[in-house]
Amino acid sequence: MERTEAMVAFKEAFGANAEDLFTAAGRINVIGEHVDYCGGKVFPAALNLRCNIYAKKTGGKVIRMAFRGIDGIVEIKTDNLDAYRGLKIGNYQAGVAYFLQEEGIEIVGCDLYYDCTVPFGSGLSSSAAIEVATAVALCEYAGVAYDKVQLALISQRAENKYAGVNCGIMDQFASAMGKKDHAVLLDCSTLAYEYVPLQLGEYCLVVANCNKPHNLVESKYNVRRQEVETALKALQKVLPVSCLAEITPKQFLEAKYLLSGVVAKRAEHVVMECDRVNKAVTALRAGDIVELGRLLNESHFSLRDLYEVTGKELDTLSGLARKETDCLGSRMIGAGFGGCTISIVKKTAVEGFIRRVGKAYQDSIGYKASFYETSIEDGITVEKL
Ligand code: GLA
Repeated sequence: MERTEAMVAFKEAFGANAEDLFTAAGRINVIGEHVDYCGGKVFPAALNLRCNIYAKKTGGKVIRMAFRGIDGIVEIKTDNLDAYRGLKIGNYQAGVAYFLQEEGIEIVGCDLYYDCTVPFGSGLSSSAAIEVATAVALCEYAGVAYDKVQLALISQRAENKYAGVNCGIMDQFASAMGKKDHAVLLDCSTLAYEYVPLQLGEYCLVVANCNKPHNLVESKYNVRRQEVETALKALQKVLPVSCLAEITPKQFLEAKYLLSGVVAKRAEHVVMECDRVNKAVTALRAGDIVELGRLLNESHFSLRDLYEVTGKELDTLSGLARKETDCLGSRMIGAGFGGCTISIVKKTAVEGFIRRVGKAYQDSIGYKASFYETSIEDGITVEKL
């Protein structure tokens, strides 16, 4: 949606002009999947696909929200923020307001128009973008100085404790802390982070959505979290570790006998994926994009065979990408079960790649994949209109 269009929509919804634009980013994750809640390192980057909030401070005790493509206005009262957990639309926002208030921040009434360009249910973290952008708007209107990492943590709390999804910190952190043309190497056990230039030479990342209809990702996600917790408890009998990410591949092989069935498979994925993150960052820094691509493929195979979060659609989409001569690697990103893949593709070959993979995917699955034009941008932006 163009900015002028959004401004018109704001005026139609609220009868006045928007005065501010707050945005937070959706994200990709180069590598390090399903390890953030195991204390691992992840390597996400913020996108040009974002949650844009056109906003006006009104004072008082009501937050009014309107949404692109959805009729009507949702209202939440700032003196009763616990009451909106059941909202289908607006619960993330209410959760953020609730936990900001719990931190002692005064929540001031405002009108917010949401133009979210992160496709929903795509594995590109639309929910984190919505939470972080909302947190920025509310803090700006409260007139308090805020720390972006704190906003990410409060946003995660809203998702965990208000919306009931037991996610890790990766998405909210990337959404808040992303930096143009860089990926963020984030240690999820300490929140120490560093920016690494995402320079792929003559290659680029192509983001594709398999468009699988939504299918209870949240409950399957929460089951995975329980499985890795079970694994950790068993392994702690012989290893002095506080999280799975601390276990080296060698230690894991020696202690694996303590685990069985799916719990063993899940833990093996986590340990090996953490190892791959280190290797991938080394490869990227050395400009070895071939090795980076190989590691992306390995990550996908592990998510498919050990963590079992891919499915026919994501396997087909990344498999077709891998068959392309100008593609160095491809994998699913995010929680899985649907959503997006990233592929490393030669810049000059992108058009043909999209055409061939798109056609073959449709022939095989029966509906289309979507390909997005993406760039790596800053996480949060704040602008006076
Ligand atoms: C979702 C969660 C993240 C992370 C990924 C998997 O995006 O929100 O915290 O666990 O899945 O890597």
